[in-house]
Amino acid sequence: MRKIFMLICLATVLFLKAKAQEIPIEKGWKFTTGDSSQWSSPSYDDKSWKPISISHSWESQGYPNYDGFGWYRLHVVIPSSIKEKSYLKDSIRLDLGIIDDNDEVYLNGKLIAEYGGKGGNIKTSQYGPRSYVIAANNPAILWDKENVLAIRIFDTGGDGGIYGDYQKISMADLMDNVTINTEADFGYDDNDNLVKSIKLASNSKYPYKGKLAFKVIDPENDAVVYEKLNDADFTAGKPFTYAFNLAKLDKKSYRLSYTFTDEKSGKAKSKTEGTPYVLTPYPTAKPRINGADVFGAHPGNPFLYMVPATGKKPLIYEAEGLPAGLKLDANTGIITGVVNQKGDYPVTFTVHNRLGSKTKKFTIKIGDLIGLTPALGWNSWNAWGLTVNDSKVRVSAKTMTDRLAAHGWSYINIDDGWEAPQRVTSGEIVPNQKFPDMKGLTDYVHSLGLRMGIYSSPGPRTCGGYLGTWQHEDQDAKTYGDWGIDYLKYDWCSYSEVTDKTPTLADYKTPYQVMRASLNKIPRDIMFSFCQYGMGDVWKWGAEVGGNSWRSTGDIEDTWKSMSTIGFNQVADGPYAQPGHFNDPDMLVVGKVGWGDSQHNSRLSPDEQYTHISLWSLLSAPLLIGCDLGKLDRFTLGLLTNDEVIAIDQDALGKEARQAIKTGGYQVWIKDLEDGNKAVGIFNTSDKYQTITLNLKDNELSGYAKIRDVWQQKYLIISGANYTTKVAPHGVVMVKMSK
Ligand code: GAL
Repeated sequence: MRKIFMLICLATVLFLKAKAQEIPIEKGWKFTTGDSSQWSSPSYDDKSWKPISISHSWESQGYPNYDGFGWYRLHVVIPSSIKEKSYLKDSIRLDLGIIDDNDEVYLNGKLIAEYGGKGGNIKTSQYGPRSYVIAANNPAILWDKENVLAIRIFDTGGDGGIYGDYQKISMADLMDNVTINTEADFGYDDNDNLVKSIKLASNSKYPYKGKLAFKVIDPENDAVVYEKLNDADFTAGKPFTYAFNLAKLDKKSYRLSYTFTDEKSGKAKSKTEGTPYVLTPYPTAKPRINGADVFGAHPGNPFLYMVPATGKKPLIYEAEGLPAGLKLDANTGIITGVVNQKGDYPVTFTVHNRLGSKTKKFTIKIGDLIGLTPALGWNSWNAWGLTVNDSKVRVSAKTMTDRLAAHGWSYINIDDGWEAPQRVTSGEIVPNQKFPDMKGLTDYVHSLGLRMGIYSSPGPRTCGGYLGTWQHEDQDAKTYGDWGIDYLKYDWCSYSEVTDKTPTLADYKTPYQVMRASLNKIPRDIMFSFCQYGMGDVWKWGAEVGGNSWRSTGDIEDTWKSMSTIGFNQVADGPYAQPGHFNDPDMLVVGKVGWGDSQHNSRLSPDEQYTHISLWSLLSAPLLIGCDLGKLDRFTLGLLTNDEVIAIDQDALGKEARQAIKTGGYQVWIKDLEDGNKAVGIFNTSDKYQTITLNLKDNELSGYAKIRDVWQQKYLIISGANYTTKVAPHGVVMVKMSK
């Protein structure tokens, strides 16, 4: 115990020491839009420039919808004491946070780092915070004097500028070369204990030798429930592996902490992660029909719907009351055909297996509206970025069929990166070599009962620098129709270059109206998803312009800050959600994400991931999974296959939850449901466990005394006028309340 205590003291001292070696650079920045080579010069007078914060994009600081060049400048003293106090004295590190999109960094007029290039060329493997390492003897650095740091940024669209956390100048440290790799999945042994191994690795020849302290902490009371100190030696090419198993834990996320301390230097590095816990009950072997209660299609267009059902296979499907023109495949549950007659058709689905049968009432609405409930599917962007290709899409489609479609998931959407650099001579768009046969791929996706989505921009180029649809709207819509596309994400991106610099409301609408008209000429139901980050309060006119959904925010990232800021701010747009037209707070960041070829586990903790899925379901958001579906672990699968949670997202009333309570530490969101019941999310936004009480006499909830925990799928026994529940840090309890 004493040893551990000393270790903590040592760690604290090291932490304080480390802090003293950092120069915070969050404050004091000046900014201007535009571009000039003079602005990198240390002698340039930037007094007339406006102050700016580097915690938020420039859009939110008086430059709404500004795309193009912008410059940031900071005057900062770099004391040589940071060099003296550091163990390795050879380089300094510049942590700048997120830069959107491309940048050139000048120190005292000299270019010291750059990323990307004007108008795209984004290397997605480096998507995320910018961190530059510069040799300490670089003559650009003026030690102990004022330095001028000038950053030239080019934003291709959406959020722009510098934003994020932990921005600083520091010495590159011995521990910068050490990775505590926690990427291996948690597994389960025969007794259902959690098993895992982590790796300490380095790319430096330095022989790291010391101790790895491993702790299991109960976040409810911060008590250490298990700890172990291990010898740990490693160097480049020879990692150290630590494997452990954890006997059955309660159903909550425990904090695991790993701290390596190097004996010789006294330097330490730590990492923490939460243990996963699955709340979703395993589906029973008896048949059950899942998913939405309604589906809309246009008369005369090809119809495709797969009845989502769980239960031990083989399952046999039946449908009573199908409108003329549709037929059901009894073995797959896939309904296809064409209905010419408008109308609401009540249908009864039945699914049988050896253990029984189940029926469900369903309505097929043939009319003007499609997308009556938010889209449920997968999109390639958060997983693969621009590295998406045919085989990754096929794996995703196959996995969706095998593991997710039974719960209602149906869209396979290719995001940016599929387009060839040039149109063919007739002007048609064609896929690049990563997609040798788009029609064949779409046919394959359809054969599984799933739908296919694609991506473009109304501008000349997409956000990733690929070819956009500008002036080829009819042609592209026709091509999509010929391939059999069912969903189009249409991303503003470079459209700013072809419209006024400060677009009017009419300018915001134009590209979407033009493409709407082109899509209307195609005999297919194509879901139209606007992606323009909420500009011009898109929620107020998205429906009228014919969008089935519209992004209400900039891009999401797999951090609590990003996800919670986006999710808990969906207030102004809430009232505009309705069947056929939904707000889109961006795609999901659960599972293995990466925006490129190298993937990592979502940096959201398990409780934050429960919050993400619960909140998005309450918001009636399109749920577009953004992870590598080929590598779904038990936890992620549990998150994505809870039928009672999905039912809240897919509720036919199509309303969005209201923020009913917002305090410094928690929020309550309430969503009205088609059956008169309420879905209620109780979110702990603090980083401590909390006991939260809902007053059931409260007007809105008065009389709703029957409470069902939807994640655990069980009724709760409560007495009295209050419902009190414990909620994990950044976690949620989601219930359905009925009279
Ligand atoms: C962004 C968009 C992302 C993704 C990306 C592709 O503007 O918000 O979701 O589509 O472009 O380049």
